[in-house]
Amino acid sequence: MGAAATKQGRGVIARYREFLPVSDATPLVSLGEGDTPLIFSPRLSEHVGGGCEVFVKYEGLNPTGSFKDRGMTVAVSKAVERGARALICASTGNTSASAAAYAARAGIECAVILPAGKIARGKLLQAFVYGAKIVTIDGNFDEALRIVRELGDAGEFVIVNSINPDRIAGQKTAAFEIVDLLGDAPDVHMLPVGNAGNITAYWAGYREFYSGKKAETLPAMVGFQASGAAPIYHNRTIDNPETIASAIRIGNPASWKQARAAIEESRGAIGIVSDEEILAAQTWLARNEGIFVEPASAASIAGLLKCCEKDNAAFALRKIREGSRIVCTVTGHGLKDPDAIGCKIDSPRDGFAVANNRDVVEPKIDSVRRALGF
Ligand code: F0G
Repeated sequence: MGAAATKQGRGVIARYREFLPVSDATPLVSLGEGDTPLIFSPRLSEHVGGGCEVFVKYEGLNPTGSFKDRGMTVAVSKAVERGARALICASTGNTSASAAAYAARAGIECAVILPAGKIARGKLLQAFVYGAKIVTIDGNFDEALRIVRELGDAGEFVIVNSINPDRIAGQKTAAFEIVDLLGDAPDVHMLPVGNAGNITAYWAGYREFYSGKKAETLPAMVGFQASGAAPIYHNRTIDNPETIASAIRIGNPASWKQARAAIEESRGAIGIVSDEEILAAQTWLARNEGIFVEPASAASIAGLLKCCEKDNAAFALRKIREGSRIVCTVTGHGLKDPDAIGCKIDSPRDGFAVANNRDVVEPKIDSVRRALGF
């Protein structure tokens, strides 16, 4: 096995060390994150048409089920190197799950500040099981982040939100993996946007490989926000953001300026998708490509579908070059948020609640056949 191959699956620091702010003095806190599949998606490709190829970067297959692990391995390794005893973050759920896991791995404390009642069940469960100290506030993510910044400034904790540059550095590795696999950057990269750290990180990663001659091109970066939580799209803070995609329920993103720069420099766009479009895309992706993602992640797919259909969409896919390659990042695993699906459709044919509580049939082949309706 070659050196590159042996580094695969051992985490993003082992694989991309030379591009990350680590040295021999940095203890490696890793759970083998990264190296997630870039799944060619025939039905999405067909949908776009023009010989375009669509790939889904399935970040739900990271150790805690979201892309946050890429940045967390770097942030926590650096925090331990600097002698940190405790981490802190505000979160809509995934950052807290990831921080809690990496803190457990490092043997240090972790405090997570969460908006009460707005964290998907699976994510809250993760923070609890990994042993984090959980505080829920009667406020939203933006207010939680404000408190976290103050606690971090007081020197009691190391902040592991994406305002910590080590997080962004680690998250760049997703762009590296895509370039390494495709042999170049894609033409278009679509992703959901919440606190805007990820779009910032991808753009930094693509630019770094471009200037280091590992890629010949740069993609257009196209971000999607939920229509009830779209500060960048509307160019104003949203005091009471609302969306079923709780991961991106954010009204004042920390990396707002960097996201704007990524969109402008890459000649990309920012678009919005409604909760209905998000939930429809989530089910569509599961049923047509076999990929189950959480609602926020489906925003990139909803955005792609919208860009195919509407001339006035954020980014007109009808006008892109034939044979273009499009990557959509899906950021978190579908099992993190079962309630979003459960409450979704209650039609007798499709409803999850109905499927779950459906009348029990006799253990006889004829009864089962009849129940199947085939
Ligand atoms: N998708 C998921 C599943 C997320 O959890 C997040 C952010 C995003 C997309 C947006 O990424 O913030 O870098 O623009 N979740 C954060 C959290 C805010 O606390 O877990 P972003």
